[in-house]
Amino acid sequence: MMMLKSSPAKTGRNDPCPCGSGLKYKKCCLNKASETSGMEYMKKKYLKKFGIHLNDKKAIEGIRVAGRLVIETLDLVEKMIAPGITTDEINTVVHSFAVEHDAIPAPLNYKGFPKSVCTSVNDVICHGIPDDRILVDGDIINVDVTHIYKGFYADASKTYFVGTPGENAKKIVDVSATCLKKAMSMLEPAKTIGDIGWAIQQYAQGRGCSVVREFVGHGVGKEFHEPPQVPHYGKKGAGIPLVPGMVFTVEPMINLGRAELFIEKDGWTAVTADHCLSAQFEQTFLITEHGYESLTPYEL
Ligand code: MF3
Ligand code: CO
Ligand code: CO
Repeated sequence: MMMLKSSPAKTGRNDPCPCGSGLKYKKCCLNKASETSGMEYMKKKYLKKFGIHLNDKKAIEGIRVAGRLVIETLDLVEKMIAPGITTDEINTVVHSFAVEHDAIPAPLNYKGFPKSVCTSVNDVICHGIPDDRILVDGDIINVDVTHIYKGFYADASKTYFVGTPGENAKKIVDVSATCLKKAMSMLEPAKTIGDIGWAIQQYAQGRGCSVVREFVGHGVGKEFHEPPQVPHYGKKGAGIPLVPGMVFTVEPMINLGRAELFIEKDGWTAVTADHCLSAQFEQTFLITEHGYESLTPYEL
């Protein structure tokens, strides 16, 4: 039988150029890529073709610092998660931490969102609004933190167990964390946006779970949501090629049951149509010359 041809791990001289021109790498960006002027060339090209900002050193450092604050916030939240607390209490901690560190909690007033963080419990997929709901033993809760620091945004989330998890909770949290790991193995130049979604979809469906389609990862940095969109499903090798300087989130929302959802009357809260559990992990990633760096790093 024929060998399956997979996309190359690194771009060879004769491989298609990662900029998507259709030319061979050596005939296109190879020489330019090593020079500062080459970076400028690629920057213009990605902006014009896809609306994507390729970030320079200064912007990357700005997002990295914002990312550190996001991770410190999630660490603080992790310590307080227990049966008996309310999601409003999480909001207070996230808001206070941001303000005390000269950061702005990005969700607050974003397109009318009323709180400083998203808290999504059990069958809530994302965009849960903190309120007086009391967490109970066996719940799962995703806490999604985005801070703006000195004009730079970083975005990350984790799903936590409240007390002792049941079998379903353990499974969906494990599958969604592993989906993010699988996505990370695709983050390098010459892989594509489609490869990321493919890796996630493949794994999630292989474990009998489903991928939410209505919400996607996104470019992030100078704005909350920038191009490109990063679907958590897709075809191998399809879509925009990854190039150094791209910063975007990957944030697969994985459902234990069916993929369908509805939005509650508040206009935000996304809930699984079958009310089965949903879990999510999100980090902000920078594409580097040889792979990636998480700008909101945590162990998975
Ligand atoms: N942090 C979410 C994301 O990952 C966006 C939340 S928008 C809000 O993109 F308004 F709900 F906060
Ligand atoms: Co995001
Ligand atoms: Co987020």
